[in-house]
Amino acid sequence: MTDTATISKGSDWGYAPAPESTDHIRLKDRYGLFIDGKFTPPASGKYFKTINPANEKVLAEVAEAGEKDVDRAVQAARKAHDKVWRKMSGRERGKYVYRIARIIQERARELAVVESMDGGKPIRESRDVDIPLSAAHFFYHAGWADKLSYAFPGKKVSPVGVAGQIIPWNFPLLMVAWKVAPALACGNTVVLKPAETTPLTALLFAEICQEAGLPDGVFNLVTGAGATGAALVKHPDLDKVAFTGSTDVGKAIQKALAGRGTKLTLELGGKAAHIIFEDATIDQAVEGIINGIYFNQGHVCCAGSRLFVQESVEEEVIAKLKARMETLIVGDPLDKNTDIGAINSRAQCDRINDYLKIGVEEGAELFQTRCSVPGKGFWVRPSFFTKVAQSHRIVQEEIFGPVLAIQTFRTLNEALEKANNTPYGLSGGVWTDKGSKIFKVTRGIRAGVIWANTFNKFDPTSPFGGYKESGYGREGGRHGLKPYVELT
Ligand code: NAI
Ligand code: MG
Repeated sequence: MTDTATISKGSDWGYAPAPESTDHIRLKDRYGLFIDGKFTPPASGKYFKTINPANEKVLAEVAEAGEKDVDRAVQAARKAHDKVWRKMSGRERGKYVYRIARIIQERARELAVVESMDGGKPIRESRDVDIPLSAAHFFYHAGWADKLSYAFPGKKVSPVGVAGQIIPWNFPLLMVAWKVAPALACGNTVVLKPAETTPLTALLFAEICQEAGLPDGVFNLVTGAGATGAALVKHPDLDKVAFTGSTDVGKAIQKALAGRGTKLTLELGGKAAHIIFEDATIDQAVEGIINGIYFNQGHVCCAGSRLFVQESVEEEVIAKLKARMETLIVGDPLDKNTDIGAINSRAQCDRINDYLKIGVEEGAELFQTRCSVPGKGFWVRPSFFTKVAQSHRIVQEEIFGPVLAIQTFRTLNEALEKANNTPYGLSGGVWTDKGSKIFKVTRGIRAGVIWANTFNKFDPTSPFGGYKESGYGREGGRHGLKPYVELT
């Protein structure tokens, strides 16, 4: 008798656990600030804890930077800019940036595991998306360092100076790369503040800068929460501020900088329209919907969080979507089978659950998968709402979780009108067999990035950024160099 003959239909066909090993991870109990090339304690002596959101265990204590520390970091960055980095040839600067890229590749496995432990994202994503893209951003920008005069022909290109950069918790190391790589390649020095729930890969990045022999003070790291970020923005000696995060904090930063010459770029929230036409390849489109909203637990500013399905294929799309969603595995982020990891923090989990309640109260119909979730940690099952109206809060506001709002449309113009009925303008998506429809939709939606027959694809050569309340300025590509150069 062969093995297959013994398999009964009632067998449990679930995947066996496939946990990534953590044996090679050596986290310190306590991390200081990284200022002028050295790890140093904060002036206040205060530390905060960063936890693993999948089991609520403390991973390490991290220094809380106050005004004095921020000032020290900005002074170090100023000195390094004026005395060393600005004067160095692009070719020499490029060598350091290449070196950083290579060390990220060498330490990729460690970085991926720490990213998943600190922030809750599935190892498959940190291993295959976050870390390789972070290295790619450094490689790409290293290549620009000695070619800036080709990027801006006929212009004299100089660095802007000292950049204060504040990043969120959804793509911790990748946001370090998006911010730091163009800044350094263009001759600027940096004071970076990572998010308070995910500081660990930024701290490992500081170690990487040491390993690369980056001159002291070129990259400085101040850890802490919103108050540390506000202290950085307030510092009078910054030439440039770059922020990625919520629209509310973006607006507060814009106000704080009003009347100052400090340059500012903002990459804020989104509520992307994802449009499926009846002529699309429905099975592929369903994969696109899944990737659009359930990638990284939906903690994605460009997530396809508003789905518009042409009325004639509504039933088919929803039936296939439900079936596909039931196969999604929610659980241990370090398990290689996991599709959806832990929600980044208790606060974010509460926000998402509040929106689930709001949606039901507004009269929408909620669907959630039946998968099991672990007892400890922060989890939300993949969810969507149907019977939603344009005015519903779940349609207008960024939820930043695995929650999709589904609407239908009859004509292309109706789809465009609904898609643009949002305060945001970061991204969008369209699925159709017809090239002409792709052009009509991509021209008709006011958003910085629009994907056609795919979603959530990123590349360092491609500029990323928004319109309206999604912010301004671009990151990536030649456009992304602009905020970091003075052209004369
Ligand atoms: P947030 O905007 O407060 O956090 C982003 C970063 O800004 C963190 O490093 C934080 O410490 C820092 N920050 C907070 N207050 C600050 C201030 N006054 N001055 C300077 N820096 C400050 O976002 P939060 O509260 O963690 O998440 C709330 C919502 O924001 C999410 O539900 C989501 O809708 C949105 N969000 C959007 C992101 C995006 O990539 N577009 C990223 C993170 C959050
Ligand atoms: Mg954490």
